[in-house]
Amino acid sequence: RKMVFKLSTGSDKLDKLLGGGVESMSITEVFGEFRTGKTQLSHTLCVTAQMPGKNGYIGGKVMFIDTEHTFRPERLKTISDRFNLDQTAVMENILYARAYNSEHQFELLNSVAAKFHEEAGIFKLLIVDSIMALFRVDFNGIGELADRQNKLGQMMSRLQKISEEFNVAVFITNQITSEFNNNQNLLEETHKPVGGNILAHASTTRIALKKGKGNKRIAKVYDSPDLEECEITYIITNGGIAD
Ligand code: GTP
Ligand code: MG
Repeated sequence: RKMVFKLSTGSDKLDKLLGGGVESMSITEVFGEFRTGKTQLSHTLCVTAQMPGKNGYIGGKVMFIDTEHTFRPERLKTISDRFNLDQTAVMENILYARAYNSEHQFELLNSVAAKFHEEAGIFKLLIVDSIMALFRVDFNGIGELADRQNKLGQMMSRLQKISEEFNVAVFITNQITSEFNNNQNLLEETHKPVGGNILAHASTTRIALKKGKGNKRIAKVYDSPDLEECEITYIITNGGIAD
């Protein structure tokens, strides 16, 4: 029998916002503009996923799919130090793959599933940072939108299946588009995650990230039927995401 577990983000407030943490057997998406901490959060989860947690969670290995070449082993060292974990051991428990185009990103999921099958019960987290970057490069222009969404849908259903079959948490990062709404004669900028309805339906939990003052960042639940839509703040430190 598979038991759902929750991974800590490094911030108690953000964990609470997520209803306890990043959950297994589902897809958690964070989106926001550059430097909001999406990649830092991904790195922090690489470490916290390896630590024992609530409800008998024993920790496990991590698969990291990097589409923007922003994975930094150096960062994992300082995050490991924060949690008093051995740097080398932490690195050895992270399987890294760089995706070069959207097709490759999709194909990598076959290798991921094979690996998860081979080392049954060992992997607990699959990260894709970022989910849309390569799709936006490979399919540009309105004429290719339907094709893009079709491929994206296939990839998201594969991710969903992997999360359930192997009881892993799937964590994806996403970008935003800026839209200007003319509201009461004020040009109001609104941020929306890219990926349209396909991504909206595939992600179980969606969190919007914004910049605050200094190293402060703001997280808010986006369009959730069962989570409270409140805002919290977190910070980015040498030890990763924190309160
Ligand atoms: P994009 O991928 O460009 O959209 O941004 P992102 O949301 O992934 O941002 P990322 O997670 O890369 O966060 C960048 C922020 O983290 C910057 O404000 C950096 O100052 C901060 N940061 C990165 N490395 C460190 C570090 O080692 N120590 C501290 N304290 N902050 C860091
Ligand atoms: Mg990033």
